[in-house]
Amino acid sequence: MTTFESFVEQYKKEIERELAAAMHQSGAPDSLKKAMAYSLDAGGKRIRPILVLATIHAFGEECEKGLQTAAALEMVHTYSLIHDDLPSMDDDDLRRGKPTNHIVFGEALAILAGDALLTQSFSLITASRISSEQKVRLISELSRCSGPEGMVGGQVADIEGENKKLSISELESIHFRKTGRLLQFAVLAGGIISGATESQLRHLEQFAMHIGLAFQIRDDILDVEGTEEEIGKPVGSDESRNKSTYPALLGMDGAKEKLDYHIEEAKNRLELLQFEKSLLLSITDMIAARSS
Ligand code: IPE
Ligand code: IPE
Ligand code: MG
Ligand code: MG
Ligand code: MG
Repeated sequence: MTTFESFVEQYKKEIERELAAAMHQSGAPDSLKKAMAYSLDAGGKRIRPILVLATIHAFGEECEKGLQTAAALEMVHTYSLIHDDLPSMDDDDLRRGKPTNHIVFGEALAILAGDALLTQSFSLITASRISSEQKVRLISELSRCSGPEGMVGGQVADIEGENKKLSISELESIHFRKTGRLLQFAVLAGGIISGATESQLRHLEQFAMHIGLAFQIRDDILDVEGTEEEIGKPVGSDESRNKSTYPALLGMDGAKEKLDYHIEEAKNRLELLQFEKSLLLSITDMIAARSS
């Protein structure tokens, strides 16, 4: 049986190899390449690409088929982090334990490195060894999950929500879009690459909605209770921007109850799928308890 630890160890390396190869082959100007590689190489948990591959593994398919899509998703996620840290957004100076992209390369190059990672991600998907139909579906889903209705829309709502007291349903909608959607893409992509049925994809989508919300609730909790050393980013960033977060709205105990609720619901949704779910269960537990 594949243990979660051995799976993560093996595939983290492969994902990073894929990212390095994509950068190596890129004809980008040196300064741009450096700025892109700086954030891509800064580490990070790689949970989204791992989730793509763990879903493929659950269906008993070859994980290698998903490597390009997994790396593409990590590029989109990294772009979202570079832009999220900009002075006009969360204005943070530490990310993945290193000075943020704009601190090192300046704002213009940070914005363009983000743009470049986003656009390159789509061409990486086209290089996968899967059918053309699958590529088109993946590109369409990635565009939907990361774009105006997805992550970008959520980031806009997050910024517009600063200095306001939002309702819990408004906050849930922000969290789902800004963070949940990319995690949802990870699981959907794994399903699409594995040839899942539409009904299986709907169950996967529900599972991912709950882990996505749990992931951002845990992020909000760590912004209060975490240490800078462990999370690799500043503690107290949300409070300093007067953001609505789960701990701000429900108190720390209330936020932790919500986290437990979404973890339970995620596991219930997995039960509806007849496949090898052990890695996906381990990822769910990891999201609940993570300290980085
Ligand atoms: C941080 O994501 C941004 C959120 C959506 C909460 P991660 O916690 O996955 O960050 P890395 O990739 O490990 O740095
Ligand atoms: C950002 O949420 C989610 C993204 C789309 C990047 P946060 O602003 O809370 O993420 P961190 O805490 O800076 O990683
Ligand atoms: Mg933010
Ligand atoms: Mg932020
Ligand atoms: Mg945060």
